Amino acid sequence: MSLKISRIFLLTAMATAIFIVSHPAWAVDWAKIEPKKITLFYPAMSSFEHLQTRGRHSGSRRYPDKSCAACHAGSDERPLGDSLVHAEKFKEPAPIPGKPGAIDTQIKTAHDANNIYVRIEFDPGIQPDAGMDKEFETKVAVMIDDGSVIEANKAGCWVACHADVASMSRGVEGRTKYLYESLAPNQGDTQKDEAALAAMRSEGKYLEYWQARFNPGAKAAVVDGTVLEKRADNAIRAVKADAIRNKTGVWTVTFTRKLKGVPGHKDIVPGKTYNIGFSIHAGHAAKRFHYVSFERTLVLDDGKADFVATAK
Ligand code: HEC
Repeated sequence: MSLKISRIFLLTAMATAIFIVSHPAWAVDWAKIEPKKITLFYPAMSSFEHLQTRGRHSGSRRYPDKSCAACHAGSDERPLGDSLVHAEKFKEPAPIPGKPGAIDTQIKTAHDANNIYVRIEFDPGIQPDAGMDKEFETKVAVMIDDGSVIEANKAGCWVACHADVASMSRGVEGRTKYLYESLAPNQGDTQKDEAALAAMRSEGKYLEYWQARFNPGAKAAVVDGTVLEKRADNAIRAVKADAIRNKTGVWTVTFTRKLKGVPGHKDIVPGKTYNIGFSIHAGHAAKRFHYVSFERTLVLDDGKADFVATAK
């Protein structure tokens, strides 16, 4: 009898060990890593263009001598979100009743010989069901630039956030995030030709994104991709994610991706500064109805940045 129990115990222990080995994110001792608090706020229809319209945004006069984060990060997110979530009609024509204006996150980063890990912990608060994304309750995304995208170091995600993207003020159905540099100069919204876009792509002049999509109690689905002339998911996924919700409703989402050598992804190497932004869609929201961060920086090992991912 006792022999049988100990064999069962041994088998369970072995199964657990195998499970842990196949789960690299768990190999990081997260308790030893200091989190950084980043507040994500509801931006309504604050496109890059809106924010550069004189008289609409006092920041426009000093941007880009001063970055968005230099004026706003760490202090303004909650007041901005609280005012924008139920703002005047031209900023928010379709407010979601009862939606919180901001979400606090605790973010940690780490790496090992092969992978980078980004771990985002947050309590979404009481989220009304927006009914926009029927499939997923919550989606968490990371957007990364390696210095190749003009102004991504100043404006972060806003370099891709335009007034004519679907669901924005001059939204064109089907148009997704894109970069100004993907447009032909002085030709309105005409895109550069395929050859020019392919050249930009091969030079890495795109933003990279990772997104985990999930529901309580189910395994997270992941997409990763690039933003250049549009948002395009990669055919072969390089990012893994797991999302766990604890009893108090706090989500912990951990992204894992190879540091380098992955087609369609930026090599993440020491000595280089990366610009990184975060977003959360909560309460079955979609498109612009998300929470976003101002731009932050990431380096490997050492250097001056918001996140210094060290080897674990
Ligand atoms: C020189 C400082 C400064 C810079 C740089 C700056 N802002 Fe602002 N921003 C302000 C101030 C002050 C306000 C509040 C008053 C106003 O709306 O003009 C504001 C307001 C906002 C609002 C609320 C707008 C609204 O319609 O209520 C958003 C969103 C915002 N900023 C985002 C950004 C982003 C994104 C960037 C970078 C592209 C940026 N800011 C750059 C100072 C700045």
